[in-house]
Amino acid sequence: MSAIDVKGLTKCYGGKPVVDRVSLRVDEGEIVGFLGPNGSGKTTTIRMICGLLTPDAGSGTVLGHDVIRDSLRIKTQVGYMTQRFSFYEDLTIAENLTFVARLYRLHPVASEVDRTLNALGLAPRRDQLAGTLSGGWKQRLALAACIMHAPKLLLLDEPTAGVDPKARRDFWDEIHHLAADGLTVLVSTHYMDEAERCHRIGYISNGKMIATGTVDQVVRDSGLSTFVVRGQNLERIAESLAKLPGIEQVAPFGNSLHVVGTDQTALNKAMASLEAESGIRVSPGETSLEDVFIKFMSASNNKNSVVENQSPKDTGNRNGNTGGPARG
Ligand SMILES: Nc1ncnc2c1ncn2[C@@H]1O[C@H](COP(=O)(O)OP(=O)(O)OP(=O)(O)O)[C@@H](O)[C@H]1O
Ligand SMILES: [Mg+2]
Repeated sequence: MSAIDVKGLTKCYGGKPVVDRVSLRVDEGEIVGFLGPNGSGKTTTIRMICGLLTPDAGSGTVLGHDVIRDSLRIKTQVGYMTQRFSFYEDLTIAENLTFVARLYRLHPVASEVDRTLNALGLAPRRDQLAGTLSGGWKQRLALAACIMHAPKLLLLDEPTAGVDPKARRDFWDEIHHLAADGLTVLVSTHYMDEAERCHRIGYISNGKMIATGTVDQVVRDSGLSTFVVRGQNLERIAESLAKLPGIEQVAPFGNSLHVVGTDQTALNKAMASLEAESGIRVSPGETSLEDVFIKFMSASNNKNSVVENQSPKDTGNRNGNTGGPARG
């Protein structure tokens, strides 16, 4: 069964759609990443899915409840972690969780709070004021608060923004443990490494879902190929490469250039003439999700083409998809 199965979700502000006929299916136990530039409609979509915002158009179900008519039921069964920290800074961790436990009428409150503190490793800081916590601990408190009532679906809106790599790693380990126990997760992020940790991703641009699938599928479907250029005078080479037809991205990565394009013939030609220069080495590179997103962002003013892939549960696992250009 799908935890989220919505079609055509639309929300307009000032007569303009900021979420434009978005369809999304997330199976039970799946972790789906939701990506897209600032202002592309991620938060608005998440708020419609969790019943906080009424769509102007669209239909579907969340946890089996009608997304338009049953928003009250949906609200009680999802855990929503907002983009901005939204707990009481002048209450301690334990006091914040006590407040949440009472909101959800959990019983007995004290043992529910203790259970949650222990489950998320918050017990040693139970008496620290939330306002004095570092980013990583705030995010852990926010996660604790939104899983306390044992929701079946977690909607996490940029949960790890501004959090250090170790805390992010711990957070994602926790998310995978929760998903292994059957929890479904939809998580928005701007981090490519986090997208890689999702079973599937969706990319939204100008309110439209323009690509869905596993990371490998999205990279493959982008049609991009990548070369890595090493040698002297990379700055000058980068400048001249960027002017050539068929080359869409030239980005320095340390002591090398990452050259990306969709026109394989033009790209091969440019690389062959570059290789003829002394001291320059060219090798095939791996197209990254970031390359694909940069392409999506540059194309966002053009007509969007929709790239949809099936859930990995229909197609086997994501590693079954190789064969993308220049991957591996
Ligand atoms: N209540 C509102 N009134 C008017 N416009 C709004 C409202 N909420 C959102 N918007 C607009 O809708 C668009 C989508 O906003 P949204 O917050 O969903 O984007 P986002 O993808 O979550 O961005 P970010 O990555 O910056 O969080 C933006 O242009 C935003 O200004
Ligand atoms: Mg947002």
